[in-house]
Amino acid sequence: MAKIKVLVNGSHGKMGKETVNAILKETGLELVGQTDIGDNLGETIKETKAAVVVDFTHPSSAMKNAKTILSHKAHAIIGTTGLTNANLAEIKKLCSKHKVNCIVAPNFAIGAILMMKFAKEAAHYMPQVEIVELHHDQKADAPSGTAIKTAQLILADRGNLKTKDAKSRENLKGVRGGKIGEIHIHSVRLQGLVAHQEVILGGLGQTLKIRHDSISRESFMPGVILAIRKVFKTKGLVYGLDNLL
Ligand SMILES: NC(=O)c1ccc[n+]([C@@H]2O[C@H](COP(=O)([O-])OP(=O)(O)OC[C@H]3O[C@@H](n4cnc5c(N)ncnc54)[C@H](OP(=O)(O)O)[C@@H]3O)[C@@H](O)[C@H]2O)c1
Repeated sequence: MAKIKVLVNGSHGKMGKETVNAILKETGLELVGQTDIGDNLGETIKETKAAVVVDFTHPSSAMKNAKTILSHKAHAIIGTTGLTNANLAEIKKLCSKHKVNCIVAPNFAIGAILMMKFAKEAAHYMPQVEIVELHHDQKADAPSGTAIKTAQLILADRGNLKTKDAKSRENLKGVRGGKIGEIHIHSVRLQGLVAHQEVILGGLGQTLKIRHDSISRESFMPGVILAIRKVFKTKGLVYGLDNLL
């Protein structure tokens, strides 16, 4: 059977390098190209006839890269964070225009998907939720795409449970973090960290913590490989690895 031709964009970066190594170990996948800043992504897709492009670059270029990939009729796996809801709506239209598929996943680690699922479920029963996400100090954006996705998942499925925000007044600007809906998000950036998130839920006389730790970037690779293999069978845009499991 013919191998799937894959190109990695952002191949000099931390996630890009890990993805290149993971693809090289997989039977059935062929690494046909590697591009990074300064390379012509569109031309390389044409030259290599890549069927799938995996993008791990920078939030400021995620949308531009998605457009280039889809308009060159390759399927796209976008791990880069920073895409807005308006971007996702545009990607959906581009998929249908160019008859290709795109998987956008803020987090490819299976444990992180489970953390989000369990947090969503726990938030049905416990009224207050805060998210603490912790990443290495080179991460370009804050909050993380995972924190945003977690908050969105919880807010979309809270039933009748109403959160009463804590009464604390901020005496130091920003000390209570940012907010999506009623959910506070706190971003920690430190050397030594990879990617971690804790969802803390509060109820009468009790708290519950749900925590996930990616202790190495290998944790994302089974999810990336799954997305490469599945992108041919999905339809249009898929947002979130949870939709592939
Ligand atoms: N979905 C997930 O599971 C997951 C997991 C981890 C990270 N991420 C996200 O993935 C992205 C990359 O993370 P990282 O840690 O690998 O970052 P990184 O180490 O900075 O690597 C990014 C690479 O992309 C290059 N680049 C920047 N803009 C580009 C463009 N327009 N075209 C081609 N290459 C470009 C960078 O070059 P320069 O260094 O020269 O700018 C760098 O080599 C971030 O958005 C991060 O949040 C997602």
